[in-house]
Amino acid sequence: MNVYCVIGDQRVERSLSPIMHNSVFSGLEMDSKYVAFAIEPADLKNAVLGIKSLNISGANVTVPHKETIIPFLDGLSARAQTIGAVNTIVRNERAIVGHNTDVGGFGDLLDKFGISPKNSDVLIVGAGGATRAILYSFVERGYRKVSVVNRTHEKAIDLTSRLGGNAIPLENLTESLRATTLLVNTTSVSDFSEGSYFTETIFNFLSYDNLQMVVDINYGRKPNLWADLAKRNNVAFADGLYMLAAQARRSFQLWTGIITQMECFLRPLGLVE
Ligand code: ATR
Repeated sequence: MNVYCVIGDQRVERSLSPIMHNSVFSGLEMDSKYVAFAIEPADLKNAVLGIKSLNISGANVTVPHKETIIPFLDGLSARAQTIGAVNTIVRNERAIVGHNTDVGGFGDLLDKFGISPKNSDVLIVGAGGATRAILYSFVERGYRKVSVVNRTHEKAIDLTSRLGGNAIPLENLTESLRATTLLVNTTSVSDFSEGSYFTETIFNFLSYDNLQMVVDINYGRKPNLWADLAKRNNVAFADGLYMLAAQARRSFQLWTGIITQMECFLRPLGLVE
């Protein structure tokens, strides 16, 4: 049997990755199993050694280990190197190599909604770990107008100076919001109870003249202020579930070489019949 896993902290217990991958394994009658491991940051190096010595066939990496795992790997794909974050580990003979399928997974979401660089004015909210792959996905696809606004402006400056896009200070937000066609929330905030002056400013802004879509990369959040913002402006909304399925499909392909239909990963999430 081939064993695959996801490593994160205690939150990994709620990960939907085992449900998706195990469903695809059984659908394809593969003798494989996918499990979740909660790993404390101090144990990360040993966990990576365990992946190697136990002959784990492939792994996903989730918060908070996506960046800190890098020194313990044998190599990185060009994308993972540029972004500085790994969400997938691929076994290559005796070496284990870090990849990032979040970039392609987010790109798949843009494709699904027919969003292209032409006439897109993107505003990314947040500049944390999850923002990297998303910002890079836009930059790699040739989007010219990509702004990043973050509660802590210095982090937006740091991120854009490494990956591209423009950091917008909160004081200049009004102009950016008016031009925005696609708003992407990458902060951990989807509910006012977790929010701040910062998210309220974005929510309460009234002149979204050009807005066409709102994306919240979180999922399973109700109430969701980003969904409410989309509704108020009568534009499309997507949460992070499609991207989750898309990155999983891309990890699966890296591990097995098998290209599956997107539906195989959407079905276990209840997103298709
Ligand atoms: P992750 O790796 O999951 O992205 P992170 O690196 O801690 O987590 O980033 C969380 C993001 O959510 C950051 O952009 C953070 O803003 P700061 O950089 O200012 O900390 C943002 N965030 C978290 N709580 C927030 C809040 N109450 N209001 C606004 N932004 C918030």
